[in-house]
Amino acid sequence: MSSQTFAGLFVAGTDTGVGKTIATAGLAAALREDGLDLGVWKPVMSGGLADEEGSDAWRLQVLSGVEDAREEIAPLVFPQPLAPLLAARAAGQPLAMEEIVAGGEVLRKRHRFLLVEGAGGLAVPLTETEMMVDLAVRLRMPLLLVARAGLGTINHTLLSIWYARERGVPVAGVILNEADADHAHDASLASNASMIEQVGETTVWGSIPRLREPITRGELVSSLRENVNLAGIRSWLEMQMDGGEPW
Ligand SMILES: Nc1ncnc2c1ncn2[C@@H]1O[C@H](COP(=O)(O)OP(=O)(O)OP(=O)(O)O)[C@@H](O)[C@H]1O
Ligand SMILES: [Mg+2]
Repeated sequence: MSSQTFAGLFVAGTDTGVGKTIATAGLAAALREDGLDLGVWKPVMSGGLADEEGSDAWRLQVLSGVEDAREEIAPLVFPQPLAPLLAARAAGQPLAMEEIVAGGEVLRKRHRFLLVEGAGGLAVPLTETEMMVDLAVRLRMPLLLVARAGLGTINHTLLSIWYARERGVPVAGVILNEADADHAHDASLASNASMIEQVGETTVWGSIPRLREPITRGELVSSLRENVNLAGIRSWLEMQMDGGEPW
């Protein structure tokens, strides 16, 4: 096992399609503009090709503005739109945790911090014996949870927070995202945030509004500056400087 430590945040979702890529890329873009050396890494990507327009690797690269190659951002890519374990099995290439971790070495050495985009939610099968949460444990990274902004999010968010903590992963907070046009602006938004903070004993750093497609880096960054407490998220990175661990 590598003794090198990864610094950064593990960006997990309550589900697939909640806006992890948008949040990860937008945070990286904004914090890079503010002078932090930060890379983005998608350890396992399924359901697309790294070079395909619109894939996670492509959007992470374009929206964050990093200069890393898409093959470095997403080193393990499987075409089938399945959970990583199943997509890897379908490709005849079962994954091992240390192989997944090794895929991030280039970016870890190049950047001070990494924002790591998980796949799906925390209990998604990753290897034959491990789930996505085990990767956060292995990397010793605090969790930044991206959740849908609308009705139904309290349950998914609290379950994810409690499960992460049960596995020993510190929770760096939550970003709500209006990923779902149907529920984008329902009345639950403000009360959801305060309920999650109160019951989940965590911080909701903000809520990303519904953005116009195609989403551009400029609009994403200005929306995050307006709606998300970037300084609060940055403090979770800064506490990891000089070897400090929030773990
Ligand atoms: N705030 C938003 N405004 C408009 N569209 C959004 C917003 N957030 C997400 N989307 C759109 O919703 C879709 C899902 O978002 P995204 O790809 O970031 O989710 P994800 O959690 O990364 O999904 P996956 O599990 O596939 O990695 C994308 O098409 C994205 O452009
Ligand atoms: Mg994604």
